[in-house]
Amino acid sequence: MRSLYQLFILFGCVLFVMQSAHALPWDDLTAEQLETTLIEKFAEGNYSPKGADSCLMCHKKNDKVMDIFKGVHGNVTNSASPMAGLQCEACHESLGNHNRGGKEPMIQFGQNSKLSTQTQNTVCQGCHNDAKQMAWHNSTHNLEDIACADCHVVHAATDPALEKLTVNDTCTNCHTREKADMNKRSSHPMKWDQNDLYRLSFTTWVNDRKRVKQTFY
Ligand code: HEC
Ligand code: HEC
Ligand code: HEC
Ligand code: HEC
Ligand code: HEC
Repeated sequence: MRSLYQLFILFGCVLFVMQSAHALPWDDLTAEQLETTLIEKFAEGNYSPKGADSCLMCHKKNDKVMDIFKGVHGNVTNSASPMAGLQCEACHESLGNHNRGGKEPMIQFGQNSKLSTQTQNTVCQGCHNDAKQMAWHNSTHNLEDIACADCHVVHAATDPALEKLTVNDTCTNCHTREKADMNKRSSHPMKWDQNDLYRLSFTTWVNDRKRVKQTFY
């Protein structure tokens, strides 16, 4: 009993050290090695029998992680939602030996991910493959170069990319010159939060950009 307790403390410390440095145990793998490892793990298909519960044993202290339960992807009552199926592993893929101190990699998304855009996007497109829904995405961005998670936040009650007042920030993460221009006195109406006149819809802006044909960067 006592040794089990000590083991827990030790494990807690190890976890703490790893988290505070925020270096991941698989950081030393190259992008190719990482991708190969994940493909092998995927082929083994060693999913956790307890789903999200096993992940949360280690990840529930991360508020960002927990925020997924406030959004659509955490909704267990929607049968199409990841939470009604493989849960966390629907996106991050099979647990495999990752729970042994978090040593085996999981699929990561967004700017910090070493994985190719295509690998990341394939996960999302497994569920989001409606041609009509994706039509404007493809018309504005080459989705082979830009990851869904570069714009979308799924671990959140509301995705900033889907809110008129915050989508601006999503876009200016990359379109920096636009951001600078936006603050000039004679700028085009992009400051949606400034007043009602400027509160344009996203679609209006896209159309406007297309008409003006101004290049970014
Ligand atoms: C026994 C503990 C443990 C369990 C169980 C566990 N993880 Fe982890 N996980 C870790 C550790 C340790 C790390 C690396 C340190 C960190 O979080 O930054 C990590 C890292 C991750 C990362 C990368 C974090 C980042 O900062 O980008 C993801 C994604 C992840 N885990 C998902 C999962 C999922 C999904 C499950 C369940 C299928 C799971 N983990 C189960 C311990 C665990
Ligand atoms: C719909 C797909 C999806 C599901 C389901 C999902 N995640 Fe994530 N996860 C992501 C994406 C995308 C990111 C990158 C950050 C973001 O966009 O919110 C991420 C980020 C993370 C991170 C890194 C957080 C950090 O601090 O940077 C961890 C850890 C993680 N997820 C664990 C989990 C766990 C545990 C579950 C289940 C409770 C889960 N995820 C369910 C897509 C998902
Ligand atoms: C297992 C299926 C599944 C996966 C995988 C998945 N989603 Fe979803 N997603 C859903 C469901 C279900 C909804 C709710 C709307 C619906 O029913 O179509 C949704 C809604 C969304 C929405 C609209 C959000 C809102 O608040 O209305 C966005 C944006 C989105 N997903 C992005 C992503 C991204 C990015 C990924 C990959 C990191 C991803 N999804 C992976 C099933 C999934
Ligand atoms: C350049 C940023 C960007 C990228 C990259 C991006 N999206 Fe979106 N997405 C948006 C914005 C902005 C909206 C809101 C569109 C609107 O208001 O018409 C949206 C809307 C959505 C919706 C909700 C549509 C609805 O009917 O409510 C889903 C689902 C979605 N995106 C999934 C994805 C997936 C999957 C990918 C990757 C293949 C992706 N997105 C890539 C910015 C992006
Ligand atoms: C991750 C970086 C990134 C983010 C975030 C991003 N973009 Fe882009 N955007 C680009 C790149 C790179 C291009 C160049 C074309 C391409 O690669 O598809 C581009 C091109 C465009 C174009 C086409 C411009 C033209 O002249 O044809 C539009 C419109 C656009 N972005 C709007 C948006 C909007 C709206 C958002 C926010 C919802 C956004 N972008 C977020 C990187 C980004």
